[in-house]
Amino acid sequence: MVDINPKYIDKEELEGISSDISLEEIENFDKHSLNNFVELKTIIEAKEPGSPWVIVKDNKTGEREEIFDCTSMNWTLALGFAHPDVNYAVYEQMKRLTHVRSGCLTPARAKFCNKLAELAPGKLKGGRVVINNQGGGLALESAIKLAIIAGRGADHFLTFFHGYHGTSLVTTGASQPFHAVSRFSPFGTEHFTRVPQPYCYRCLWKYKNGIYGKRDPQCNLECFDLVEKYLMGMTPKKLIGVILEPFQAAGGHIPFPPEFLKKLKDICEREKIFTIYDECQTAVWRTGKYFTLTEKYEKELGIDVSPDMMMFTKAIGGGFPLGALIVSLKIKKRYTPTEEHTTFSSTPISLTAGLASIKVIEKEKFGENCETRGKQITKRLFELQEKYEVIGDIRGPGLFIGIELVKNQKSREPYTELLEEMVLEGPKQKIFLGPSMPIFSGTGQMLMRNVIKIKPPLNITEEDANFACEKFESVLKTSLNNIKKE
Ligand SMILES: Cc1ncc(COP(=O)(O)O)c(C=O)c1O
Repeated sequence: MVDINPKYIDKEELEGISSDISLEEIENFDKHSLNNFVELKTIIEAKEPGSPWVIVKDNKTGEREEIFDCTSMNWTLALGFAHPDVNYAVYEQMKRLTHVRSGCLTPARAKFCNKLAELAPGKLKGGRVVINNQGGGLALESAIKLAIIAGRGADHFLTFFHGYHGTSLVTTGASQPFHAVSRFSPFGTEHFTRVPQPYCYRCLWKYKNGIYGKRDPQCNLECFDLVEKYLMGMTPKKLIGVILEPFQAAGGHIPFPPEFLKKLKDICEREKIFTIYDECQTAVWRTGKYFTLTEKYEKELGIDVSPDMMMFTKAIGGGFPLGALIVSLKIKKRYTPTEEHTTFSSTPISLTAGLASIKVIEKEKFGENCETRGKQITKRLFELQEKYEVIGDIRGPGLFIGIELVKNQKSREPYTELLEEMVLEGPKQKIFLGPSMPIFSGTGQMLMRNVIKIKPPLNITEEDANFACEKFESVLKTSLNNIKKE
């Protein structure tokens, strides 16, 4: 296979497309972008291949600097920026093919689907996979379509408070609503009923001792009793599916107790309601040494909470755009070509990247590294909690860490201003920290946005983890001071 060499344009000119940008081009972009443009920095390139450090350019001064990314760029880059093995596999793929029409079989498509079927947990193992080139939202729409096709006429779904599943016209309806701040309304909301999620740190049943992602030991899962009513016929139309993130990510880093999931699964199996898990953020070893959170519960707690369908995006594409849905073999239906495809849905590049990234993580045991580095960071956060009243809760296994900021540990009043200050202060101190999504009232009043995330790539070193902890404390301190001054 020949190496890639340009035919018509100079190498230098082609390289210039990605290697730099002038302040004038940034200014023009600001005029032409339909998205509201609020970013302060332009992301230029990895500091080194496969690193959590990235070189950015300030949009006003044009100065370059290095930043440590604790967000893995929307929780996606499991192996850091521009990983060499992934890029090599992509380069080889690009020499052969960059695109085929939807439905086409390529070596990468077959290998990727087979691998996902091998890695899937519980009753999904050996299941059927459908992929798309866009991500989690489209994967959820695939799940919704299949549930309706297989559901003998039922087309109603249960979803949860604070859930987030995408911004398409349909997936916004399945997600936490933003009535007053979003200027369009979702399509198809009549297909969803939303119920409270089990939020142990802020229990609706007033149990006070839910903390660190664990239930109050006194609780009797009253939250499940309520959900059970809906599963047993209280929705306005007959239910065909329940959609949930087993550990809500954007909505505030809120885990569903595994016992809740088990009860849910049992009733859904009895009532012929499909369980649809969104593991877009928690899969691909993000929570430690298992591929999914569902597998972690199976191996560590000995309970099988595996759903009928599971969606993936983020790290599944090795840093390239990819979404996937896996479905249990118990569901006999398959899609016809009319029902499920997009122009780019057989994308060989993303599939190659996804598979290469999985191979690296497996070979180098980065899931284990994720667990060790996660423990290192959370241990330090627990120490900081003793020192800082504003650290209310610390949740998450592996490098899936959310810190709930509060005005004081007793009242647990959300400290939204602090989160917003920290997210702005972070880059000034060479670190990107991630925010949870805002939760608004119907009139647009901000109710809470107070969970800050530490989710760097899985392959970070001990030194990187120490750096993240040091910076976290320093950003916290400065932000508290800044707020006092205001
Ligand atoms: C849990 C979860 N599900 C679904 C989505 C939507 O995925 P996408 O943006 O790829 O459509 C996201 C995106 O952040 C997510 O976090």
